[in-house]
Amino acid sequence: MISKKKITSLIICSFLLLLLPIAFSRPTRNLDGTSPRAPTVQQIRNRHGTREVIVDNGIISVSFSSPQGLITGIKYKGVNNVLSPHQRARGYWDITWQGEKTRGGIDRIEGTKFRIITQNQEQVEISFSRTWESGSGSHIIPLNVDKRYIIRTNSSGLYAYGIFERLPEWPEVEMGQVRMVFKLDQDKFHYMAVADDIQREMPTDNDRDIHRGHAKALGYKEAVQLIHPHNSMFKDQVDDKYQYSCEIKDIKVHGWISTKSHVGFWIISSSGEYRFGGPMKQELTSHVGPTAIASFISGHYVGTDMDTRYKSGEAWKKVLGPIFIYLNSGDELLWEDAKRQSKEEVKAWPYDFVAFSDFPSRRERGTVTGRLLVNDGFLTPGRFAYVGLAPPGEAGSWQTNTKGYQFWTKTNETGYFKIDNVRPGTYNLYGWVHGLIGDFLYQNLPPRNGPTLWEIGVPDRTAREYFVPEPYKNTMNPLYLNHTDKFRQYGLWQRYTELYPNHDLIYTIGVSKYSQDWFYAQVTRNNGDSTYTPTTWQIVFHLPYVNMRGSYTLQLALASAARANLQVRFNNEYTRPFFSTGYIGRDNAIARHGIHGLYRLYSINVPGRLLRTGTNTIYLRQSKASGPFEGLMYDYIRLEEPSRV
Ligand SMILES: *[C@@H]1O[C@H](CO)[C@@H](O)[C@H](O)[C@H]1NC(C)=O
Ligand SMILES: *[C@@H]1O[C@H](CO)[C@@H](O)[C@H](O)[C@H]1NC(C)=O
Ligand SMILES: *[C@@H]1O[C@H](CO)[C@@H](O)[C@H](O)[C@H]1NC(C)=O
Repeated sequence: MISKKKITSLIICSFLLLLLPIAFSRPTRNLDGTSPRAPTVQQIRNRHGTREVIVDNGIISVSFSSPQGLITGIKYKGVNNVLSPHQRARGYWDITWQGEKTRGGIDRIEGTKFRIITQNQEQVEISFSRTWESGSGSHIIPLNVDKRYIIRTNSSGLYAYGIFERLPEWPEVEMGQVRMVFKLDQDKFHYMAVADDIQREMPTDNDRDIHRGHAKALGYKEAVQLIHPHNSMFKDQVDDKYQYSCEIKDIKVHGWISTKSHVGFWIISSSGEYRFGGPMKQELTSHVGPTAIASFISGHYVGTDMDTRYKSGEAWKKVLGPIFIYLNSGDELLWEDAKRQSKEEVKAWPYDFVAFSDFPSRRERGTVTGRLLVNDGFLTPGRFAYVGLAPPGEAGSWQTNTKGYQFWTKTNETGYFKIDNVRPGTYNLYGWVHGLIGDFLYQNLPPRNGPTLWEIGVPDRTAREYFVPEPYKNTMNPLYLNHTDKFRQYGLWQRYTELYPNHDLIYTIGVSKYSQDWFYAQVTRNNGDSTYTPTTWQIVFHLPYVNMRGSYTLQLALASAARANLQVRFNNEYTRPFFSTGYIGRDNAIARHGIHGLYRLYSINVPGRLLRTGTNTIYLRQSKASGPFEGLMYDYIRLEEPSRV
């Protein structure tokens, strides 16, 4: 069962099991007046002689290659196939992996065995599975995989989930990415919607072709400038799939609309439990192709710090999904309807129609309730804080954990929280609060050693509040003009050298404003000849008095780090660094237009003798500078006086 943990002064929780009746309704009549019918399963040989399985419920008809289990067609509302006719791969799972002795690569997980799991009046569930053996070949990832698809009566979509398992004696493996990908018909789908304020008409894959001169390569291969797009409205715009990344907590539904066929194609994620890395982990969504992705594991915005390695002796089993592939049709409001459907799916979670025994039903799951109280000098409710259950580990370890299930929620105004539908298992209870530094684990207090002397920014684990410059006119994405996510524009990092041509950023406490005077990322200086120089930022502050024997604390919270080393010096730029983070970070948030990657907090003890009465300067030097993308983002900086105790 959910393990019980100590009740403490910081987090008071109680654990209880909820027993709820499961609602069940019988299908009666379709919208168009025809009675919904139970889905049928057909096994055929197509004209190329290969085998196919077709599941059809009268609303949607889905074809799978058999026994591989790749989705080859989705027929809906008079559209013979919403998926790409030009691609062999149209709807599939893939895993990017590496073995200890094998090179690995991308495994598209083709099944070797087809089975019908359930077929009744309500639904069909089918399985395409593959079992690993030591002779399976070096291109096959050592995992047992069972890909499941469910099509229900009177349902305009397809549920997909995967059961992944490795045995402890199997070879070591690293799994950097596990996802489901859909490639849609590019003649039909041109309008993409990821959120209320992230949707637009999109260029085509062909517009990105740099070999035919349609586009120009930019700083890395994912970003191109459209020179000769099929539609002149895209001319000179940047296309980069990372501009459409979102935080997991915001990825409930995303996809594409065909304005020609009046059809929408959506990926709906009803739960975060099979996700990883916590609610602020960023993932790709939809992008030019037209492509729509359900990402289950990836290193995006975290990099190699993500724990994706399985050592020998380590077993693993996880159910990824189910996600819902939803299709809708009509003349308008397809996005609004998709959002409505996604709310229905969330309500129905955990789905009671999943046949696999290791997908616990609602009555087999638990509920955790509690209250978060924060002692930051005095006791206050932890308002609107994130609280979550994740596999046992240190405070904050959920950021890099990919192996278990995670369950997150937000506290209400008075600090109360309730986490529903928790799978049986052993978890730690973690949390963090907007406005406070650090990660909590049970009784851990937010780090503070003394009263605040000064602070820069807001502890929110992002660099959002700092100065984000305007994009270049010739490499912009109009979607993000006048948008709260200004940071999604291409090339903003280059603005630093223009803004600070002669010397690096100097921030004076009491005079400078962080929203104007603190650049959102500490990037390298571009020397203009393809070389780069490290930058040293200064914080200048005044102390009327110094406690020479006391110990001050510099709280330094980073929102991102990419192949960086931050050195901190006090009042002398040329001494050996007093503190150094060492070589940290591969989250690549600068190049990927993120405003944060992985969160890190350093609490640095500063002996009073390093400070002086009057003007002081802290030197922050990011010493790695081989290219444009090494650097840091700060979340928050605070200097604390010695404790008055
Ligand atoms: C079939 O689905 C439609 C659309 O979701 C819904 O309005 C209708 O009530 C459903 N019919 C049955 C019998 O469940
Ligand atoms: C917060 O949740 C608790 C427990 O459910 C409830 O009693 C309280 O009224 C809620 N507070 C607010 C401000 O919503
Ligand atoms: C920017 O957004 C604001 C608020 O949404 C709106 O009032 C304003 O007209 C917009 N400006 C431009 C140039 O689009």
